Amino acid sequence: MTPEAALRRVESPAAVKVALGNRSYDIHVGRGLLQRAGELCAPVLKQKRVFIVTDSTVAPLYLAAFESSLRTSGIRADHVIVPAGEASKTFDELARVLDAMLAAKCERGTMIVALGGGVVGDLTGFAASVLLRGVDFIQVPTTLLSQVDSSVGGKTGINTAAGKNLVGAFHQPRLVLADTDVLSTLPRRELLAGYAEVAKYGLLGDAAFWAWLETNGAAALSGGDNAHGFLRHCIVTSCEAKARIVAADEKESGERALLNLGHTFGHALEAEMGYGGELLHGEAVAIGMAMAFDLSTRLGLCPASDGARLRAHFEAVGLRTAPPRTGPRGAITPAMLVAHMAQDKKMKDGALTFVLARGIGKAFLTHDVPAAVLEQTLAAALKG
Ligand code: NAD
Ligand code: GLY
Repeated sequence: MTPEAALRRVESPAAVKVALGNRSYDIHVGRGLLQRAGELCAPVLKQKRVFIVTDSTVAPLYLAAFESSLRTSGIRADHVIVPAGEASKTFDELARVLDAMLAAKCERGTMIVALGGGVVGDLTGFAASVLLRGVDFIQVPTTLLSQVDSSVGGKTGINTAAGKNLVGAFHQPRLVLADTDVLSTLPRRELLAGYAEVAKYGLLGDAAFWAWLETNGAAALSGGDNAHGFLRHCIVTSCEAKARIVAADEKESGERALLNLGHTFGHALEAEMGYGGELLHGEAVAIGMAMAFDLSTRLGLCPASDGARLRAHFEAVGLRTAPPRTGPRGAITPAMLVAHMAQDKKMKDGALTFVLARGIGKAFLTHDVPAAVLEQTLAAALKG
């Protein structure tokens, strides 16, 4: 797309469709969508009734405005508030949310709504998938990460002692409302973590979008009124890419695994750092993508200059590309990260699936990575 066409699109209202037959749904992206929630949700409701799950940070910011918009359209809303943060993706919190839904006498026709970031979206979507053997839900993502990734595609779930997202269901939402206005209250660190997932779509399959980000990414992240158009272009382009991949491979039997670019390394780092506030998911993915490009270069597959471009852009916007060298267990070693990788739920016949790249926009899947080259990549990254 030419820069002129990109800017024209930045100014126009946007809806992206996820094409899944009779489970197809729209993703609306733009400003002021929370205020229009009643009008936008009404067409997908079976009853004039919703049950909202949100978190303790988002509730005081946006719950009243959201519920007020629903009431204006004659829609009754009940809600439950979970503690903000990853620690809410547990069996205990799932049980509390389901009990609240049942106590409110939710019926099969009651629409469940996730109002919050990826934690609320994953927990609520999973609750909706099992409530009364499965009810519909709407995603109202309020972080950049959830607007470009977790609210789209139907992966829902919780964490257990054995690891992250190991219990869950594929359950597609009926509608996604991504309001860019709510990003103005998001801490910059969270915005940047979401930006890593935006950049992922350029790196894995869209070199022109990557080049657009090199020019305009800083404007998208700048905060303030001017950023909205740039953010909308980031969100629409990301959702279009994800929608196309999900429509082609909903249950991740092939192409969808490309969305895990940087995640094999990133998940290992997150696990080693203990899922506290030390390393956010998006931050780990940014570091992981730098490592995936380095591994691709070491295997003679990818020009070193493409990895250098990745690192230069991430560092220019404020995303680190070097992993932390110490975690709760002390100095991090390649062996520690390899041990986490071996727990990956995308293992196939005992072999890890890697997303590597032949260049920017040219990601591909392979099981064929010699252990010695993996070890060299990890050792080099941990040396910094
Ligand atoms: P999050 O939901 O924890 O949100 C981050 C923080 O921002 C929280 O403290 C939250 O309360 C706060 N917040 C949310 N919206 C805000 C706003 N508008 N203003 C101010 N504060 C706000 O984290 P996240 O980064 O959105 O999502 C991470 C989760 O998403 C992880 O659990 C990850 O596993 C999951 N995920 C799922 C998928 C998927 O396909 N289902 C994909 C990627 C990530
Ligand atoms: N976040 C990866 C996926 O949805 O497949």
